[in-house]
Amino acid sequence: MTLPDTNNLPLPFFMANAEGVITYVNAAWRKVFSRGVGDHWLSLFPEVAPADFEAQWRRIRQPDEAPLRLRSSSVSVAGQTRVFDIHCQSGLETENDPTRLMATLVDVTDQVRGEAEILAILDTAVDAVIIMDEDGYMERLNAAAVRLFGYTASEMQGQPVTLLMPEPHRSRHEAYVQHYLTSGEKKIIGKGRELQAVTKSGRQIPIYLAVSEINQQGRRRFTGIIHDLSEQQAAREALAEQRERLAHVGRLSTMGEMTASIAHEINQPLTAIAMYAQSSIKLIDRGNANPDKLRAALEKLNTQSLRAGAIIERIQRFARPQQSQREMTRLSVLLTDLLKLAESDARLHEVELKFELAQDLPIVLCDPIQIQQVALNLIRNAIDAMSEIHRANGRTIVIQTRAVGSNMVEVSVADQGPGVAEDVEDLLFTPFHTTKKDGMGMGLSICRTIIAQHGGVLSFRNNEDCGATFYFTLPIETAKDE
Ligand SMILES: Nc1ncnc2c1ncn2[C@@H]1O[C@H](COP(=O)(O)OP(=O)(O)O)[C@@H](O)[C@H]1O
Ligand SMILES: [Mg+2]
Repeated sequence: MTLPDTNNLPLPFFMANAEGVITYVNAAWRKVFSRGVGDHWLSLFPEVAPADFEAQWRRIRQPDEAPLRLRSSSVSVAGQTRVFDIHCQSGLETENDPTRLMATLVDVTDQVRGEAEILAILDTAVDAVIIMDEDGYMERLNAAAVRLFGYTASEMQGQPVTLLMPEPHRSRHEAYVQHYLTSGEKKIIGKGRELQAVTKSGRQIPIYLAVSEINQQGRRRFTGIIHDLSEQQAAREALAEQRERLAHVGRLSTMGEMTASIAHEINQPLTAIAMYAQSSIKLIDRGNANPDKLRAALEKLNTQSLRAGAIIERIQRFARPQQSQREMTRLSVLLTDLLKLAESDARLHEVELKFELAQDLPIVLCDPIQIQQVALNLIRNAIDAMSEIHRANGRTIVIQTRAVGSNMVEVSVADQGPGVAEDVEDLLFTPFHTTKKDGMGMGLSICRTIIAQHGGVLSFRNNEDCGATFYFTLPIETAKDE
């Protein structure tokens, strides 16, 4: 076998025979090491041989196998401790030439120290940092990662990162990685997204994960930076709860404003019930009650009691505290249902509600009770605005729905009241601003919050002839990408 001209090679190089004894070193080696030919190579490099060295050694002796890379971390060179990567290749082992091992050395001391420095800096970071190999196995982690996940560093090192993922991400992760490695299509790398992670104790925590790719010396690795969102989530939940409570208070106050008309609405079936009950008693008292007549009266009585029950049920549903829930909703159904609640109030104030609902309006994703609450508030404000003095203009409130652009729908309530004076325009939506004797002034401010929460806008304009139109928009439910 002819040997390569290793004397021109700038990196230290040696060969060893089957016993591991060094038989040859090049010039670059001699510049670095005082020992060499005749020494056993393993005696020069402490901590170099991994436990499965023999198995690995067998592997690299197969043709076309990549060189075996070993790291020796405390090599003493001219009184200094240095770190070397040793790239081992198998030589031909024949009788004439007993070369078994050919190895090239790379001094990686500076790189290792740099890495250690970076890791020390990362340890001071608040966010958890995890460095993974190409297959998603955790190589390095910082102190925050240990704190966040509750595992020790050594429990995590060498484990697949799926250890920290709850289902279904855990099962999907390998497919994601494979998909990226084969197609190059990035789903999360360089983007970041909110996810759930799982700690050693099994607790799920909301996190923001950003993954980046590092390519170093032809080796691809991934770095994950994980920001714990638990506190933000708790704050968000507290805020949502507060909003729900406020919305509930708003509904109760509206119900309060409507007690007169509600009482009126319930009085009607109750009066009818009393009437049918009395006539039934009379029939019986006469002694020869006609069963058909009696039956007809009792049936009417029953119908009326169901009607009263339905009114109470609707009011209860509206007044109940509820957790905000988004549902796929048809606005026409929602508003028609609301009509029953608003109609009696309008009747009592001698105004007429006119519904002009667009056909085939797209579906919206909303909290139906809260949207009814907003619409009812606008209708009630419109009724209030059309007090006696203004009724000369007309007595009609028009409730309209329509599509706006390609992705919004609008609900508007147009009255024939005095409209909004310019100087109060800015005040309208501030809490506790009211021009009414017993108004709370919370209605519009709560409504605006509810609509904003839904991704829409609540506003108003003065009509050309008379009165004002208050309107709100809601986004149409379209298929969202994952
Ligand atoms: N349709 C309307 N026309 C004229 N003014 C209105 C109309 N709707 C609301 N406003 C004005 O906005 C104020 C605030 O309304 P709101 O927040 O619902 O509280 P409240 O109804 O308790 O007064 C009302 O007092 C009124 O002055
Ligand atoms: Mg109001």
